[in-house]
Amino acid sequence: MAVKDIVLETLQEGRGTYVSGEELSDSLNVSRAAVWKAIKSLRDDGYNIEAVTNKGYRMPPADETITEDSLRYALPPHLRTGKCFIYDTIDSTNLQAKKLLLDGKAGGGCAVIANHQTAGRGRLGRSFFSPENGLYLSVIIDPDLDMSKSVMVTVAAAAAVATSIEDVCGQNARIKWVNDIYVDDRKVCGILTEAMTDFESGQINNLVIGIGINTDLKGFPEELLQTAGAVTLRNPADKSKLAAEVIRRTLEYTAQIQDPEPEFLEIYRTKSLVVGQNILVFKGKYRNDPTSELGGIPAKALGISNNGGLEVIYTDGKREILTSGEVTIRRIK
Ligand code: BTN
Repeated sequence: MAVKDIVLETLQEGRGTYVSGEELSDSLNVSRAAVWKAIKSLRDDGYNIEAVTNKGYRMPPADETITEDSLRYALPPHLRTGKCFIYDTIDSTNLQAKKLLLDGKAGGGCAVIANHQTAGRGRLGRSFFSPENGLYLSVIIDPDLDMSKSVMVTVAAAAAVATSIEDVCGQNARIKWVNDIYVDDRKVCGILTEAMTDFESGQINNLVIGIGINTDLKGFPEELLQTAGAVTLRNPADKSKLAAEVIRRTLEYTAQIQDPEPEFLEIYRTKSLVVGQNILVFKGKYRNDPTSELGGIPAKALGISNNGGLEVIYTDGKREILTSGEVTIRRIK
């Protein structure tokens, strides 16, 4: 490990506590100048490292609480007037968003945010593990779309989350079709888009785009730790920044869905984790169980179609465009 990485780890683990330059140079067996160089380089990377004479260096104690103020401060001025509902604990931000819509208290452009969910909802009727200190948010949009375009909404949101993680956390984020975001080959985020439709016209009245980002793996059960990861927040304020970026880009990208060549689709394609890979496709009665050895049809992922579907070719040469909802996939490593 490089000196810079060890200094970062020491300061992050001891957040709030000062450690002197001398202690760092002794424990790392490097010169004080090397410690100072590492600190400077970390600051240049955006880490907030305080220095006090006779005490040393520290990263300030973590306070990642998102408040209306911290969120507004992080949003661009034209979005600061949108309504945000912020909770410490809620059953599910998606459920709450739907309740607020039905009560007429929320509408397109609003966001619902929580630090902890007691009944987080995942895709295909699964639950979404949502312990404290996560980032759980739902963005409401009122698009002029019919159901055939619904997969594009999740595609737009996935591109929004991946680019936001890269900008705020400095980590390379990739997308597993259709709605999972990975960093270092670990799932750090899932997206669940739910529609409020007009039953007769099939037209979507409102969409609730639910986004769950792991920012801390404390409390995760062993079985989830096999595949789950968390994004790195380099400064406490980064949680508000990340939430604000995700909201801003989700609104921006979903507004492009009717464009002939939406910018987010190209981003999504570039960040795809599955295009060019061998995969297993789970359909019909097997679609709910991508962890099973049963029912997966071997295929190769060829590309992302213009409507956000996954183009695949099976071993018998047949091609198909998969659309969300009817299938799940698993990468073969
Ligand atoms: C999945 O990976 O299956 C999708 C998970 C989506 C989780 C988010 S967290 C915020 C929003 N509220 C929920 O209850 N679910 C979504």
